[in-house]
Amino acid sequence: MSSINLVDLTSQIEATVASTTDLQENEADRKRLLQACDQLRKELKSPFEFTLRTVFAKAGSTSHLRGYMPQGYASIAVRLAIDMNLFNAVAQHSESSSEGTVTLSQLAETTKTDPLLVSRIMRFLSALGIFNQIEQDVYASTPLAAAYISSSPLSAAVIHVTHFFMVLSQLPAYFHGKGWQNPNNVLDGPFQYATGTKSHYFDFLAGEPYYQQAFNTVMIISHRRQGQNWFDFFPVEEKLGGVTNDSDALLVDVGGSQGGDIIAFQKQFPHVRGRLVLQDLPIVIEAIQEKEFPAGIEAQGYDFFDEQPVKGARAYNLRTVLHDWPDAQARQILARLREAMAPDSLLLINETLLPESKIALSSAQADLTMMVSFAPLERTKAQFERLLNESGFDLVNVWMPQGFTASSAELASQATLLEARLKGSSE
Ligand SMILES: C[S@@+](CC[C@H](N)C(=O)[O-])C[C@H]1O[C@@H](n2cnc3c(N)ncnc32)[C@H](O)[C@@H]1O
Repeated sequence: MSSINLVDLTSQIEATVASTTDLQENEADRKRLLQACDQLRKELKSPFEFTLRTVFAKAGSTSHLRGYMPQGYASIAVRLAIDMNLFNAVAQHSESSSEGTVTLSQLAETTKTDPLLVSRIMRFLSALGIFNQIEQDVYASTPLAAAYISSSPLSAAVIHVTHFFMVLSQLPAYFHGKGWQNPNNVLDGPFQYATGTKSHYFDFLAGEPYYQQAFNTVMIISHRRQGQNWFDFFPVEEKLGGVTNDSDALLVDVGGSQGGDIIAFQKQFPHVRGRLVLQDLPIVIEAIQEKEFPAGIEAQGYDFFDEQPVKGARAYNLRTVLHDWPDAQARQILARLREAMAPDSLLLINETLLPESKIALSSAQADLTMMVSFAPLERTKAQFERLLNESGFDLVNVWMPQGFTASSAELASQATLLEARLKGSSE
């Protein structure tokens, strides 16, 4: 840093900020600049400023703790407004008012909640910029607020992620009680400790329609995530094109949720022959059967710890399934697949592959998210390879999205495809 004139650099950054419209034009340059700014911020921050921003979520360059806000208040305030139906009520009243506004008493009446509580939540969300407070007790919507009405996938995402806050806050007590051991028991992990349930998270969800629906919606959002689908960078024609009989199984998407992946696959490869099968827990499959589902995809209610009903398929796909399970259960899931596979069947595992070092913050965060919800982990290539070997498979190939390598710190948001075969089976 010593050879750089900080005053000049600051002026240059200020000039750049003033020309933000130019910046928006080139996505690659914009991302590079953002990364450089993040790096610069890391270098410049004092430990105190780092703590203010990271732990207390204190924006700006303030140097005091007053009014601190531990991370989480903003998310929980949004969650409260979703549960209280405030976003819907604001949308409904502001649409029918000539000024496009809504009053506190209208909101309290429509949502059947305490006006004082409503005013405190609305005040907080207005300070965050989600609502526009016109004057005392009068509010207007914003495009941001419209994004949280109950039918929006974003509101489902908020419900889903905030559900884990109680687990997160109990981690210190959980680990203290467990002697600081890494969790590996799906029935006695942080989630069970915090919620008091004896069930696995997925069984718990089955009895909680509010959270089950939010989870299912979030699984569909993940299909819109940036990045490529596995079939964009895996040689589908070469590896899966050999099925000539329509009654033979081509692809079984095990734990495929609402079918986002296999539906996209069918759209992209309408001419490939063979059955396409979507499998998930009966409660998930029942929910999709109520909706319109594309012809040509069979949806099966199936528990992947039971015998696999589709034998000898060309490929079985596990997309972000194994990261939900510690090694003991992952081995059981793989065992059911191994028993069903033919010597030329492929096992495809579509997961984020963690680099061994210099990991991106988002990947490290994804790993802790897994710990908090199900007690498992995101895995490195070496961890997957060991798991596959122990389960009777050879890892034969690792397919990466174009432009990425195994050590890319950015790989976090880009799922990788592991191609495995039964141990000893030839290509
Ligand atoms: C993280 S989601 C991944 C969903 C989908 N593959 C995707 O990538 O969007 C894990 C899926 O496993 C399903 N699942 C959990 N336990 C299961 C079981 N015992 N048998 C079958 N599916 C199960 C869940 O319902 C959920 O849809």
